[in-house]
Amino acid sequence: MLKIKGNYFLLETKHTSMLIKGDERAEYLYYGERVPDFTGAEWLSPETYWQGADHPLSLFTQAGRGDHREPTVSVRFADGSFATDFRFVRARAAARPAAEGLPLAYGEAKCLKLEFLDEPSRLKLCLYYTAFTDSDAITVIASLTNGGKKPVEILSLASLHLEVWGNDYSFTTFDGAWGSERRRHTRPLECGKCETASYIGSSSAFRNPFVLLGREGDVYGVNLVYSGNHREFAESDASRRTRVATGINPCQFSWELAPGETFFAPEAVMVYGKTAGEVSLRMHEFVSRHIIRGKWKDRERPVLVNNWEGTYFSFTREKILAIARKAAEAGAELFVLDDGWFGKRDSDTCSLGDWTDYEEKTGGIESLADEIRAMGLKFGIWVEPEMISEDSELYRKHPEYAMKIARRDPHRQRNQLMLDLADPQVQGYVYRAVSRVIAQCKAAYVKWDYNRFMTDCFDRNVRGGEYFHRYILGLYSVIARLVERFPNVLFESCASGGGRFDLGMLCYMPQVWTSDNTDARERTIIQSGTAYAYPQSTMGAHVSASPNEQTGNSNSLQTRFHVACGGLLGYESDFTKLSDEELEEVRSQIAFYKKYRGVLQFGMYHRLGDAVGGEWSGFITVARDGSKAVAVIAVPEKRTSEFNLRVRFAGLEEGALYHVRYRKADGTLVSVCRASGALLLRGSFPLQDLFAETDVHRFSNPLYTRMFVFEKVAPRKKRS
Ligand code: DGJ
Repeated sequence: MLKIKGNYFLLETKHTSMLIKGDERAEYLYYGERVPDFTGAEWLSPETYWQGADHPLSLFTQAGRGDHREPTVSVRFADGSFATDFRFVRARAAARPAAEGLPLAYGEAKCLKLEFLDEPSRLKLCLYYTAFTDSDAITVIASLTNGGKKPVEILSLASLHLEVWGNDYSFTTFDGAWGSERRRHTRPLECGKCETASYIGSSSAFRNPFVLLGREGDVYGVNLVYSGNHREFAESDASRRTRVATGINPCQFSWELAPGETFFAPEAVMVYGKTAGEVSLRMHEFVSRHIIRGKWKDRERPVLVNNWEGTYFSFTREKILAIARKAAEAGAELFVLDDGWFGKRDSDTCSLGDWTDYEEKTGGIESLADEIRAMGLKFGIWVEPEMISEDSELYRKHPEYAMKIARRDPHRQRNQLMLDLADPQVQGYVYRAVSRVIAQCKAAYVKWDYNRFMTDCFDRNVRGGEYFHRYILGLYSVIARLVERFPNVLFESCASGGGRFDLGMLCYMPQVWTSDNTDARERTIIQSGTAYAYPQSTMGAHVSASPNEQTGNSNSLQTRFHVACGGLLGYESDFTKLSDEELEEVRSQIAFYKKYRGVLQFGMYHRLGDAVGGEWSGFITVARDGSKAVAVIAVPEKRTSEFNLRVRFAGLEEGALYHVRYRKADGTLVSVCRASGALLLRGSFPLQDLFAETDVHRFSNPLYTRMFVFEKVAPRKKRS
């Protein structure tokens, strides 16, 4: 909702308000818990700001007007100068811009458009603020339009610059690496800047674009609808203010803006909450309602079985069919054939780009898919379309499709090169190749993988500083066309696990393979970090073999299942190796999951405890009507003679009465008690017999877990 009163603008969501004043420069007056109206706003902006070195809370910073900090809008003019003087011109309610080629949030038609002009150059800066009322998010799109006669070089254009009063904030980022994505790191912001950024062409496993700026009682979550190089920074200064910014990483970026052209920065989103938990809930709402789209948006996602960790590249048709048969017996709904089914792909040294059936291995992909479907399963397939192996037919025919620089030996990762998706011809090739694969095997699901960093960026038709961004625009144009052509296909994005878990990819693909690390202990940390920004309906979570392939830790099937219930359940092992008892246990897990997946996948998600270093952690996901909830508690350590490990729940309805049960490995639900929502929210509850359930001599470095089911019951009537 947008209200305008003179030069004051009020953006309202269900629980938050943002007040902006359009003056000589425009300033933030307030962003936080909802306020009734404009009354008193003028006191927030005293005249004295305009004197001396003191500045208001700005919507952007620029070089040339005495701001001592890094500019968030920065250009180089044809004469080599950098100074700009963007002054506020006007503001009005307007239609949201289309920002051609970029993925955008959807579901609100109107925004607040603020225009600023650098008079001498006629360069125009526009900021479009949209309030997503129902999900408590406000987004910004920034654009620069060259109204002058000479080209201008954009050096940086942050998507969002938010400032707040106070210099007692901390900055939280979600960083890691392959197999340890999105670990939470929080540090106090002392005077100076703190930043997180990606330089490898994708949003990356190293640094997620989601960040938090927080202090007791005030937390701001910021994210970017983008999948390429990004940078977020936070900075406090002696003027007792703190700022946070996000956008395309200015490193190795520049963009030539010809006269009459407009450049749009990716959309950024911000959410305010009193706690990080509140910010997460609001971000989840925003992502679920305004980012995820298409047929699968609110649909329950299928339980899948994927052969990767079970077979890697060495499989035969018989092996795949045998795994699928067991998967069907256990009640799975989708079988995913992973890497190794195409070209001559028996290892990672060849065939990327040759998206043709490896018939000697599959025995014919079409009939294989048919046979799997005949078992009652849907068929899904893995592809890695942005890549090319030098040992491939495609490379032999079109070496110019590969991303490389003349006279330089290209850097290889996993023995592969990347395709130059900045080139429209290559985009066309990828689109056609993937379309063919989907049509040929009638895939119901596609896992879109991406297994290396971008290096050797070059295309003779693209200016160097534009390459990274043009690649991402090329990628978006290909996947936009594919999802439009195959609206029923469920796409899962993957990048060596969770290396491209971002709002850009989520605009096209509703779920992401969270991490290649499927160890239950590590996954509690990765999933809990991921869930700060992204709802559980976006997180692929699989039960894999024990001991775990990545860590060697071993865990019971039950523990592995509990942890996988924090996301979209799948299995990733050789099902033919399961004993009858294990298969029976898996069958009961899948049956349970199907019964509760509505709440597990789409319920309101609350973090419990602290997965990074806490004595216990977990989550509870509560049905939107409060009728039921499922919680999983994970305890990382069994300490000798340490008692009274107690947990507290969240999100339940205060006034409701719940029947609480916990789930045993054989699937039975053991009654614990009936308790009021109010007590469950405030009491500290013991985890009786938790450690006794796990035979510590059977497992190495196990995680101890318990799953609780809460079902609302009508209070017992008093006998008269
Ligand atoms: C990386 C993915 O994250 C894995 O799940 C698997 O698909 C492999 N690539 C296949 O090469």
